[in-house]
Amino acid sequence: MNSMRAVVCDRLGDPSVLTIQDIPMPVAGPRDVVVKVGAAGVNFPDILSVAGSYQHKPELPFVPGMEGAGTVHAVGSEVTAWRPGDRVIFGVRPGAFAEYVKVSKPDALMRLPDGWSEIEGAGYRVAAHTAYHSLIHRAAVKKGDVVLVHGASGGVGLAAVQLARHLGARVIATGGDDERLAVVKRHGGADEVVNYRTSDFVAAVKALTGGKGADVIYDPVGGEVLEKSMRAAAYGARLLIVGFTSGGPSRIMSNHVLIKGLTILGVRAGETIARIAPELGRDYVEILPKLAAQGVMRPHISHRFPIERTADAFRALTDRQVIGKAVIEIGG
Ligand SMILES: NC(=O)c1ccc[n+]([C@@H]2O[C@H](COP(=O)([O-])OP(=O)(O)OC[C@H]3O[C@@H](n4cnc5c(N)ncnc54)[C@H](OP(=O)(O)O)[C@@H]3O)[C@@H](O)[C@H]2O)c1
Repeated sequence: MNSMRAVVCDRLGDPSVLTIQDIPMPVAGPRDVVVKVGAAGVNFPDILSVAGSYQHKPELPFVPGMEGAGTVHAVGSEVTAWRPGDRVIFGVRPGAFAEYVKVSKPDALMRLPDGWSEIEGAGYRVAAHTAYHSLIHRAAVKKGDVVLVHGASGGVGLAAVQLARHLGARVIATGGDDERLAVVKRHGGADEVVNYRTSDFVAAVKALTGGKGADVIYDPVGGEVLEKSMRAAAYGARLLIVGFTSGGPSRIMSNHVLIKGLTILGVRAGETIARIAPELGRDYVEILPKLAAQGVMRPHISHRFPIERTADAFRALTDRQVIGKAVIEIGG
């Protein structure tokens, strides 16, 4: 049997549990596509999965990695949409940190846009789905809304900045480092940036909006960032709970929700489509490739690691070094 190199998690823990192993290469079943992986994007949920604290818990041992880009290597007998040699962006749950990956869901593949490298393509899918589902399906952001994006220099944060600007919103972006925020402004197009480690973002949002506050708050950080955000929210604001990179959930005061008539929206970009709103999945298949072709949410890649250094890639995220995305370079 042919074998390939892959990053394997055979026990849960910190990134040091990851090893490189030779494992059997995937074989395409009738409806499958096997992709030769060029690069794979690193996401915070990868770290949580390896730690055993993510909501989706793959059986051990598993190959982590939720997304990547590469070239179609083989297709099953019933596959007509793809052929060997096509350059694609793919999503998997999980398995991307390997030389080859089997993609079984037809909607988990899209064409790599012209002019994009595999490194860029590897960082598109998860952030773009999350930002799209949050801002469009959940919060219905419209032109003129003030959108406050927390953790804006991270993967899902930067994509939300880019998409909100594309939708005609005014974007106030927060983050914990001035240099990384400068990239959020330059690459993401944020109208204003605020360092929430060195300044009071509530006061800044109030000052920037004439005391009104933000119409939409997108929060992948959690903890006290979301708690404080209640005071930066406009009357009738929509609060998107995206994640908890700060380490934990937030205590939301229900009296604040009532007084300001707030709407709290939980975001599960993949699960909502799978469980309750499959019709929304069409947007991922039809609209996200078009937005990519227009350059909306084109990823900013600050870090690249060889497959042997996947653990260091994880540490770059937890050390808050990454601007946009870190990727693992795997193939050719
Ligand atoms: N709901 C969904 O469907 C969905 C989908 C994908 C991801 N997520 C979640 O979204 C969150 C962000 O994911 P990501 O892949 O974008 O992560 P990421 O690229 O690492 O970005 C996270 C950002 O969080 C900020 N942060 C604040 N406190 C932090 C801390 N103690 N440690 C690390 N970062 C901290 C960092 O910005 P500063 O240093 O500038 O503060 C960082 O840029 C995660 O919680 C993930 O699970 C949710």
